[in-house]
Amino acid sequence: MTDFAKTRALFHIPDGVVYMDGNSLGPLPVAATERVAKMLRDEWGDQLIRGWNSAGWYVQPRKVGDRVGKLIGAPEGTVVMGDTLSIKVFQALASALDLNPSRRVVLSDSGNFPSDLYMAQGLLGSLDRGYTLKVVEPEAVEAEIDETVAVLMLTEVDYRTGRLHDMQALTKKAHAAGALTIWDLAHSAGALPVDVTAANADFAVGCTYKYLNGGPGAPAFIYVAPRYAETARPALSGWMGHAAPFAFDLDYRPGHGIERMRCGTPPVIALTALDAALDAWDGVSMADVRKASIDLADLFIREVERRCPMLALASPRAGTSRGSQVSFRHEQGYAIMQALIGRGVIGDFRAPDAIRFGFTPLYLGEAEVLRAAAILDDIMANRLWDRPDYLSKAAVT
Ligand SMILES: Cc1ncc(COP(=O)(O)O)c(C=O)c1O
Repeated sequence: MTDFAKTRALFHIPDGVVYMDGNSLGPLPVAATERVAKMLRDEWGDQLIRGWNSAGWYVQPRKVGDRVGKLIGAPEGTVVMGDTLSIKVFQALASALDLNPSRRVVLSDSGNFPSDLYMAQGLLGSLDRGYTLKVVEPEAVEAEIDETVAVLMLTEVDYRTGRLHDMQALTKKAHAAGALTIWDLAHSAGALPVDVTAANADFAVGCTYKYLNGGPGAPAFIYVAPRYAETARPALSGWMGHAAPFAFDLDYRPGHGIERMRCGTPPVIALTALDAALDAWDGVSMADVRKASIDLADLFIREVERRCPMLALASPRAGTSRGSQVSFRHEQGYAIMQALIGRGVIGDFRAPDAIRFGFTPLYLGEAEVLRAAAILDDIMANRLWDRPDYLSKAAVT
């Protein structure tokens, strides 16, 4: 059994805060502060450029990748860290299209994160080979998989509603139709059990600043199924993914296996913070996390529906059909969330009208969920959101 009291102590949550936004940015793991300070002092400070070898900076993207891989069912040597998730989406899609050269359709859904769709639009426009990006409703994806589809590109958990796709079933159907799959696990890794091997995914990508608590701007990951390890063309063919970066050849030759998905110089400081954050998963069972997160989310839904009938549930009601987040709709959603944040309950808002709450049992418990629901009730019952400073939108919502 996972000891959630123990994991709670690993995170810095400011006094008085109920943190329900781990689905956007995980909180600071206490150990990361000293780990990064030590890295700055002992490695950057004292070892200087020698740190690439002596402190292992060069191999860090693979080593940390293997740690992330354990959380998503990826074998060693199939995950590498680096860049942002948007970049990794681009890279995975370019590689997947290359592996399926006779097809011209990329199938995705309207629940995909916009940046994934934007990156696809940018890539397909640059390739200029007559590709179409077909974006359908999440419920329609399965029926739209046919022999025209080159790549099925989906985010497993819908960022707005938490709706969960069946990764295994959709991958199976895509493969039967001759398509490859790319799964964005941004809202899955660290949130629920993921098994890219069992699902037979071809590519998977994700970020590490949400449920993996790597900090703002923490590097992304990319997984390539072992069957494509030596044939996937990385497209973003940077020198760190070259077979021999320090030979400084004038022509690109892809590195061995997942190494080829590296691009440029890795963000060593950010990887160090992430490496420290990943220690929180030692002794944690993802099945326990899933069960606790569903219980917390169910409790919150029950309490909010009982207390605040004016808020409409925007997430699937069945816990097993959701990721680790719950959204409610209200036309004043933005102001309501600002009022909540003013009272120490931190979630976020997604346009046009959704207030979103993440349920992360590593540091969130039942008492906090009940407190959040009671504060939301007070805000709704007394229109405490109706203040000019809550109604005016900031740049980041
Ligand atoms: C599902 C999903 N995909 C892609 C992105 C974009 O990630 P990045 O800003 O790291 O490129 C996000 C960001 O939150 C996301 O939630």
